[in-house]
This record gives sequence, structure tokens and C-alpha cells, in this order.
Amino acid sequence: MSSVDVHSKLPHIGTNIFTTMSGLAAQYNAVNLAQGFPDFDVPSYLIERVSHHMLTGKNQYAPMAGILSLREKLATKYASVYGIPFDPVEEITITCGATEACFSAITALIKAGDEVIIIEPAFDCYEPAIVLNGGKPVFVKTTYPDFKINWDEVEAAITSRTRLLILNSPHNPTGTLFTKEDVTALRELLQRHDILVLSDEVYEHMVFDGAHHYCLAADPIIREKTLTIGSFGKTYHATGWRLGFCAAPAHLMKEFRKVHQFNTFSAVTPIQHAVSDMLDDSDWHHNLSSFFQSKRNYFLNLIKHSGFKAVATQGTYFQLLSYAAVSDKKETDMAEWMVKEMKLAAIPVSVFYQDKTDQQILRFCFAKKDETLQQAAEILCKI
Ligand SMILES: Cc1ncc(COP(=O)(O)O)c(C=O)c1O
Repeated sequence: MSSVDVHSKLPHIGTNIFTTMSGLAAQYNAVNLAQGFPDFDVPSYLIERVSHHMLTGKNQYAPMAGILSLREKLATKYASVYGIPFDPVEEITITCGATEACFSAITALIKAGDEVIIIEPAFDCYEPAIVLNGGKPVFVKTTYPDFKINWDEVEAAITSRTRLLILNSPHNPTGTLFTKEDVTALRELLQRHDILVLSDEVYEHMVFDGAHHYCLAADPIIREKTLTIGSFGKTYHATGWRLGFCAAPAHLMKEFRKVHQFNTFSAVTPIQHAVSDMLDDSDWHHNLSSFFQSKRNYFLNLIKHSGFKAVATQGTYFQLLSYAAVSDKKETDMAEWMVKEMKLAAIPVSVFYQDKTDQQILRFCFAKKDETLQQAAEILCKI
């Protein structure tokens, strides 16, 4: 029997590291600080609101761009938190998570042969979307160990084919934040070059030690060329609900929606209504940073006498730890050994680099119950 050849469009892409490590964590009954999701509950109010909206008939297709009340409340939040005017009708679309927003944005903007600059280390969803659209990812590394963007190198990577620059702050996996200097450098770059920006800000409400999250679109020059992407899943401890958004000037949003409507058409209706209700509570996002800062401090305090050394985290719910003092293993080997032998799952940072740069650091997610962090810390202290 002959079988039809499948010409893989992503031949070098396998199951991603998060799925692999979560699978290994389950198989070896390990404490899972690998994948970025909380092991504590979604706020009970949100559960109650989803149930309410399901029981009262909000179960059919939502409007393609998302329910208007959610877009309006998001626009109000952008105005009050960052001073950014977004028109809820023409400039905001609700998506199936930030992942769908990234995919729809890249698909809407990238044609075959276009180049897209990705700053490494980088979250894994950007590159496949570029490749699927016939684009070429161009990688520019941050400095080590402070993971700063080298703007001269970014500018040197721009060619006549460069269409898009992908940025992420607060940054996964390093926890670094855009600085005021980054914003100035980006503004000047955009004045010199005709390129667009995808700004992935899914951890916008998780910044520590009094640091400030610079939403790039707050700068009027940057705003005109930028698609801002966010995730309600991250903000409301509900990554499984797959709700995110994209906000952008109307001419960019028009193209974004052409893809979004044939990609997923719309996001889950009762969840949009519930999140819209939740947005009335502005304390939630104001308090999120201190909530996660306490988690980070709790975890770091428990491991302060271990051989693992923290590489500063100013945001997100990830902590990088260097294990150079306890082992000379490669990151992937160390992560595999830890999950199988020590029953603790973490993510090797080398997977966030195309060339698998190895710095002997692992990423740990501290969005976990205190007892989970305690179990993880006990293991780390034994290594
Ligand atoms: C930097 C970054 N962008 C986007 C996403 C995807 O977010 P969502 O779960 O809303 O699709 C994640 C999830 O881990 C992330 O870390």
C-alpha cells in the first residue's frame, strides 16, 4: 500500500520542551517547576462568572473581534494604567491566548522572503509562525549574564527585507524588563527604519522590587508601528482558558483580523464575559506583582544555602538559576538528570536559543503553592 509523502513544513520542530518536561515530570512523579502555569486555583469569582454566563446562555459564537464590553474595559485599562488610547472597536481583538495572537499577527504581516528579527533567548512560538509563512527568522542575542538588548546589533541585523521585530518584556525566560533606554533606542530605530514591532507583554502585571513595566505602545511613535499582545490566562492564573488579545493601530488591526477570523474566528464566549466582569476589579492586576514577588522571595530564601545561584529576575514568574557550582553537565542533560533522578522538573535555557547556547542555567517557574516551592527547594538543597 502506498502512502502519501508528508512534506513537513516544520521538519526541524518536534514536541516542544514544555510538553516534554511536563510529560517527564508526570512519568517520574516529579515536582514540576518546568512549564509556566500556576498550580493554585483560578479566582473563585471568575469560576462563578463563567458558570453564570454558561447557565444564562452565553454559549454561541462571540463576535469575531471579541465581545465589546471586554474590549471596552481593556481599552479603559490601557488608558488608566499606561495612558494609551486604544479604540475598542477598531484597535483591540480578543484571541485564543497570546499564542494565537502571535500566530495571527505574524501570518498577517509576513510574506515569503520577509525577515523577522527575534531577540534571543526567545519564547518558542515566534519562529515556527515565521517559517510557516515563508519568512526568515534572524536571531540577535542579548548580552550575558544581564540579558540586555544590544541595539547596535539589532540595527546591524536590519536589511531591506526586514519587516518585523519581535520583542518580549517582562521576558520569558530571563525575567528582564525593557528599560527607559530600550524605549528610547527603539523609538530612534523606528524613526530610521520602516519596520513593525510585535510586543509580547503577557507578563505585564508581574514586575518586582518597584520596577516599572514599559508598555511600548505608550510611546506615540512606537505605538503607530506596534502590535501589543497580552494574555488573560497569565493575569488570571487561568492559562487553560486560552484567552488573550492583540491591540494595535486600526490599519494593522484590520490585517490582523483578516487572519484571526479564519484562524479561530472568535475566542470562547462565556470566558470572555467572565473576564469582562473580572476587569471591573482593578485591584487584581495592581496586586499581582506583590503576590508573585512574595513567591519569588519565598523560593529564593529557601534555596539561599544551595549550590544554585539566582540570576536576577525583575519580572514574570520565572527564576533562572545557575548550577555551574554544582555540576558541569550540559543544560539539557542536567534537566533530564534532575527530573529522572531528583524528581524535579525545570527548563534548560539553551532551548530558547537557536544554536542551543549553553550557560549552565535552568528556568524554574515559581507560580506554585508554597508547599510545591518547599518540595522543590528541598531537592535543590540536596544537589
Ligand atoms: C512570552 C510568552 N508569550 C506568549 C505566551 C503564550 O501565552 P498564552 O498562554 O496566552 O497563549 C507565553 C506563555 O508561556 C509566554 O511565556
